Amino acid sequence: METVLNIQGLTKHFGRIKAVENLTLQVKAGSVFGLLGPNGSGKTTTLGMLMGVVNKTAGSYEWFGQPPTDRLRKKIGAVLEHPIFYPYLTGLQNLELNARIKEAPESNIQKVLELVELKDRQNDKFRTYSLGMKQRLAIASALLNDPTVLILDEPTNGLDPMGIAEIRGLIKKIAADGRTIILASHLLDEVQKVCSHFAVLKRGVLMYSGPVDVVGEGEIKIEVESTDAGLREALSAYEGTVEVERAGSFFEVRLREGHDSAALNRYLFNKGITVNHLVTHKKTLEEQFLEILSDSSPK
Ligand SMILES: Nc1ncnc2c1ncn2[C@@H]1O[C@H](COP(=O)(O)OP(=O)(O)O)[C@@H](O)[C@H]1O
Ligand SMILES: [Mg+2]
Repeated sequence: METVLNIQGLTKHFGRIKAVENLTLQVKAGSVFGLLGPNGSGKTTTLGMLMGVVNKTAGSYEWFGQPPTDRLRKKIGAVLEHPIFYPYLTGLQNLELNARIKEAPESNIQKVLELVELKDRQNDKFRTYSLGMKQRLAIASALLNDPTVLILDEPTNGLDPMGIAEIRGLIKKIAADGRTIILASHLLDEVQKVCSHFAVLKRGVLMYSGPVDVVGEGEIKIEVESTDAGLREALSAYEGTVEVERAGSFFEVRLREGHDSAALNRYLFNKGITVNHLVTHKKTLEEQFLEILSDSSPK
């Protein structure tokens, strides 16, 4: 798959604050990429650098294999912070104004209104919109130029559960159109629901980057050791096993939800295998991420 975004050693310091530190990652075309981290972990600063509104301290990045230019950035739509709309203009009038500023074709306005499901409210004044509708109008505005990449910073912040569900549904719809989406969020649950890939930031440092499906709900990891030569084969054959890996003198077994060390021990015992070491790793990937997300760096 084509690499849409390639970040190499990107760094931003605000005086003593290391907002983003030596960040290296890639985003592939067609993915919904989540930038996950607690408040203050450097998500907005990263997106700001990628959009050219925050000056980087060091490092580099390429969009579509080329160093960033204003022309390339036209292929990117962004909803970075609270967008400026005129409260006394209608949704439609606000979009018309933005289309003129962005030199986007007028014919795109009805298309994006349709996509974000604001067609029937387009002639109402912006100030009468709910928070969710305002956010949808911001997404519509970011799509006016028909960008191949859409960047969203905390798109569901402050919304009620209904508004959150609408925005998440909309993100999936936009991704299904073949656009690449980069989304910053402090919610693991949100990233798991809408993203295909993600990176985890903690105090500006990349902690993890990979596909979302490995976060595996309820998986646990167990260390097993036995002098029995049939151990590996037996572990692999166990119905709850996801993966078996050798780790020094013992094996590391990843178990699906609903399986635990007691059940595994019983199974091995019935096969005539006695173990001399059986330790459950408490921290699954999910728990590790939740721990990172509960961290808040000093401001
Ligand atoms: N303009 C700025 N001046 C000084 N410090 C800043 C500025 N913008 C962000 N920071 C600091 O950089 C760190 C990362 O912030 P930010 O990128 O907004 O994190 P996030 O979006 O993950 O919440 C924080 O410690 C924040 O206080
Ligand atoms: Mg932020």
